[in-house]
Amino acid sequence: MSTVKEPFILPQALQDQLISAKSWVVLTGAGVSAESGVPTFRDAQEGLWAKYRPEELASAEGFARDPKMVWDWYQWRRELINKVKPNAGHHALAEIEQSADEFLLVTQNVDSLHQAAGSQKVVELHGNIYRNICTQTGRDISDEWMTQHPGSPVPSPHASAAFARPGVVWFGESLPQAAFEQAISALNRCDLMLVAGTSGLVQPAASLPQWAQQQGACVVEINPEQTPISAIADYRLAGTSAQWLPVIAKNLKGKAY
Ligand code: OAD
Repeated sequence: MSTVKEPFILPQALQDQLISAKSWVVLTGAGVSAESGVPTFRDAQEGLWAKYRPEELASAEGFARDPKMVWDWYQWRRELINKVKPNAGHHALAEIEQSADEFLLVTQNVDSLHQAAGSQKVVELHGNIYRNICTQTGRDISDEWMTQHPGSPVPSPHASAAFARPGVVWFGESLPQAAFEQAISALNRCDLMLVAGTSGLVQPAASLPQWAQQQGACVVEINPEQTPISAIADYRLAGTSAQWLPVIAKNLKGKAY
């Protein structure tokens, strides 16, 4: 593993690898949205879980125990996300997608900021915070129903004694199968995997870099901190995603076709 720090210049060997890569997979986590003003989950002081245990706020059991608290917490996050904009890292990923022959962005983020920046091939492994689903059937609940039935939480139209809940993956739940299969199929083909802004602590997303590497991909991690992924990454770019991703996008612009 080779670590690269400021002044944000890519080593020549990595530049060559980025230019020659035909198929890219990018895995993102909460760190990519941090510079937009969305706190990450595990920052000890300000992280989203700072006051509560994750299982209290993001599990079916937590919701059953205290639906109002969980619902209000997600409403608070929705309002926070409504106010923020994609940052330079999100925009650079949309540019990288345009430069790559084959590309898939696999995100654990539920905030839609990648799509807002113009990324098109996006797989949401943990769902989307703007969706609402029925606690009992898992079926989607329309925005129209949500506005017509205010509540904290809102009752579900699909089953009696059921509620609307955010369409995100909670602790103890499986990932959406189609999304996970799409990610694995892209990882099986990719020669370059970029991992940005994730602590690498939540499975199964945390195992994807190693999987890609076992299939022969070069793994590049962007994170200001060391993570379990750092140990296996071929390159670790120490710094933030808004610092490094534009450097990579710019590097690819000069690519000869
Ligand atoms: P975490 O909060 O666990 O980790 C965020 C990572 O981003 C940390 O490793 C930070 O060092 C890094 N980071 C912070 N600022 C950064 C920046 N500006 N640029 C790059 N990296 C930065 O978030 P995730 O790994 O995304 O699931 O957490 C995975 C899942 O755990 C989340 O999707 C969430 C949670 O349970 C759900 O809510 C469903």
